Amino acid sequence: MKIAVVGTGHVGLVVGTGLAENGHYVKCMDIDEAKIAMLQAGEMPIYEPGLEELVVRNMEEERLKFTTALDEAVKDVLLIFICVGTPPLPDGGADTSQVFSVVDAIGKAIDGYRIVVNKSTCPVGSTEEIRDRLAESTSQSFDVVVNPEFLRQGSAVDDFMRPDRIVVGCDDVRVEEIMKELYAPFLRTGKPLLLMSIRSAEMAKYAVNAMLATRISFMNEMATLCEAYGADIGEVREGVAADSRIGPAYLFPGIGFGGSCLPKDVVACAKMAEARGLDTHIMKAVSAVNREQQQRFIETILAHYGERIKGKRIAVWGASFKPKTDDLRDGPALHVIDALLEAGAAITVYDPVADRNLAHVYGDRITVVPKNYAALQEADGLVITTEWNEFRRPDYERMGDLMREKVIFDGRNLYTASVLEKAGFRYFSVGRPSV
Ligand SMILES: NC(=O)c1ccc[n+]([C@@H]2O[C@H](COP(=O)([O-])OP(=O)(O)OC[C@H]3O[C@@H](n4cnc5c(N)ncnc54)[C@H](O)[C@@H]3O)[C@@H](O)[C@H]2O)c1
Repeated sequence: MKIAVVGTGHVGLVVGTGLAENGHYVKCMDIDEAKIAMLQAGEMPIYEPGLEELVVRNMEEERLKFTTALDEAVKDVLLIFICVGTPPLPDGGADTSQVFSVVDAIGKAIDGYRIVVNKSTCPVGSTEEIRDRLAESTSQSFDVVVNPEFLRQGSAVDDFMRPDRIVVGCDDVRVEEIMKELYAPFLRTGKPLLLMSIRSAEMAKYAVNAMLATRISFMNEMATLCEAYGADIGEVREGVAADSRIGPAYLFPGIGFGGSCLPKDVVACAKMAEARGLDTHIMKAVSAVNREQQQRFIETILAHYGERIKGKRIAVWGASFKPKTDDLRDGPALHVIDALLEAGAAITVYDPVADRNLAHVYGDRITVVPKNYAALQEADGLVITTEWNEFRRPDYERMGDLMREKVIFDGRNLYTASVLEKAGFRYFSVGRPSV
């Protein structure tokens, strides 16, 4: 099929590339000229494992093209995917203005029947608004479908190519058949394509993110209780995860969830409730626990140093909001770095792939180093904010030799307290006894 993808960010680039890899002809469009120029030159604007190879191959085979011209992108295609951002408004509700400006532009550009597929996460009812807006701006016939995206950054290519399920909200049987044909190559593993009403599909996206965030905040609250009562959240987690009614996913305590989706979608869900005069007690609590969790970790660090924090050099391992991505958006690491800078500490960060984004956010306010041990040189402490695999088995002796003060604040519970105690470190982690 011939397809346009409007918005070539973390979702759009993976979606467009994944569709091309499965034999479709895809034109990815974005208003960001620098991003499109990079892609046209075969360079990746984001780090996502496995993506570059697929982009380059599909460009070479002429199934994948990049453009800044919407008219050109939507010419002669059957499907137009919308993958632009829906960031939070100041009040926490979802800002759908990028989606609607794209919809208006599509309406002006199309010269025949199109199926508009919305992948951007929008409040329930938005698809109907998209339909109304399109009807105002074009006399061409069209259908609108909602097809929420569930990929996770860091494993986005794999998630898109082998999804757990595909959700399609649609109210036209012919369009349903086209969506089934489009996604057939992705469902060879036997996973389902779930057809449902448009409003249910919109709600399903929020429900999934709200559930994932709830599991994380729940475990973080349990971790706080463990600290108060001398239990170990790692052991407690094993007891919980082994229960087949619960399962092991998304039960790791830490310094809270971040990224461009979970925090904003939980708040947007609460805002949707408010708009109908309802109260979402769980969503509000999930966000509050998340904020408190990050704050408690920061306070642990500040309490350790007290007045001595000014001028201390603190090493930070990991800056991205999760491993295997260079995305810093709303990441716990940024909150920690900001708080330590404000307290007067000097910060040296090592992250395997986020240097470009760190330079963009902090400029010369922090030092960024290319190797993890280099960050420890003369450091008065190490803060671990992202659980990159390469941090899991460090050489403690080498670390101790480099550091001025042997103290680790581990926001991801990577190490065993007794081992660090033996190596002469003070060690703070989450929901476990400190040594
Ligand atoms: N990032 C994720 O893991 C993820 C997962 C599932 C769903 N989502 C949802 O998907 C949507 C996109 O998220 P993202 O992370 O890819 O955002 P992003 O910020 O990485 O990408 C959005 C892109 O849209 C482009 N854009 C903005 N206005 C445009 C316009 N008028 N015309 C063309 N392009 C335009 C931007 O330049 C940017 O490149 C959001 O609604 C998000 O909630 C994200």
